[in-house]
Amino acid sequence: MTETPSHKLNDGRTVPAVGLGTWPLDDDAAEEAVAGALGLGYRLVDTALNYGNETGTGRGIARSGVDREDVFVTTKVPGRHQGYEKTLASFEESRRNLGLSYVDLYLIHWPLPRVDLYVDTWKAMIRLREEGLVRSIGVSNFTADHLDRLERETGVLPAVNQIEMHPRLPQEELRAVHAAKGIITESWGPLGRGHDLLADPGIVAVAEAHGVTPGQAVLRWHTQLGAVPIPKSADPGRQRENLDYFGFELTAGELERITSGPRQRFGGDPETHEEF
Ligand SMILES: NC(=O)c1ccc[n+]([C@@H]2O[C@H](COP(=O)([O-])OP(=O)(O)OC[C@H]3O[C@@H](n4cnc5c(N)ncnc54)[C@H](OP(=O)(O)O)[C@@H]3O)[C@@H](O)[C@H]2O)c1
Repeated sequence: MTETPSHKLNDGRTVPAVGLGTWPLDDDAAEEAVAGALGLGYRLVDTALNYGNETGTGRGIARSGVDREDVFVTTKVPGRHQGYEKTLASFEESRRNLGLSYVDLYLIHWPLPRVDLYVDTWKAMIRLREEGLVRSIGVSNFTADHLDRLERETGVLPAVNQIEMHPRLPQEELRAVHAAKGIITESWGPLGRGHDLLADPGIVAVAEAHGVTPGQAVLRWHTQLGAVPIPKSADPGRQRENLDYFGFELTAGELERITSGPRQRFGGDPETHEEF
């Protein structure tokens, strides 16, 4: 297996080029999946307070025997905990669940524009970073307007915006905004969330041309666009497959062919989705 590369963040730290998603695993399943994945070579793990599996994720990290410093752990503040003081308390809850002294990346899970607390939440995240409890801070499901507002009102840009991204939702415009601001795009739902994406004829043809699986072709597409995919699998074979795609290169024509299917969003719309 080729070694996993990494990306430089705008705060000087680095993030591995691919990670393990953990939704919707419960604590026991997350412990198994995370311990197994770290054993295979994964070094980025994505969880959230709202997944209800931070405890299992933390156990999996401890069980893996991999040095804490070598694992990049991401978790997220949920909608019901937005606001300055509540975010600080929510972080303590997450940290306790994970059993860790610090978190590598802390994200605002959804912007919830109607609630209008994401700027105050962001100020708490800045404080957590200053205190060293969080190494990097970022957001999830933020639009270009939300990012502009954070920059305008706090002067601090997120290191990462974790957004729904896959060949049916390639996010060209938001990726261009990220590139201009030095924000790394993380892709959630990178394999199409169990829908029929991996049976798309264009994707299957590209995969066959390289002797790889459709999942590997799609993950390669993410990487060549500069995004960090966090595919979820609890199956050791598919976990291995989802890490082993750094040994081939797609052509410009193949990158286009992968996105030749219809446009489709599999998750919530960031302007209206409310999740607490
Ligand atoms: N920030 C947010 O709002 C947000 C929202 C959704 C998700 N996320 C994060 O993003 C992660 C990934 O997104 P997701 O889980 O929704 O979607 P996904 O990773 O695109 O898809 C996961 C599904 O694909 C299957 N799968 C995995 N690898 C495969 C392969 N190589 N070939 C065929 N099928 C494969 C998995 O089944 P098996 O387990 O059986 O392999 C699972 O059913 C989540 O786990 C979570 O950590 C974040």
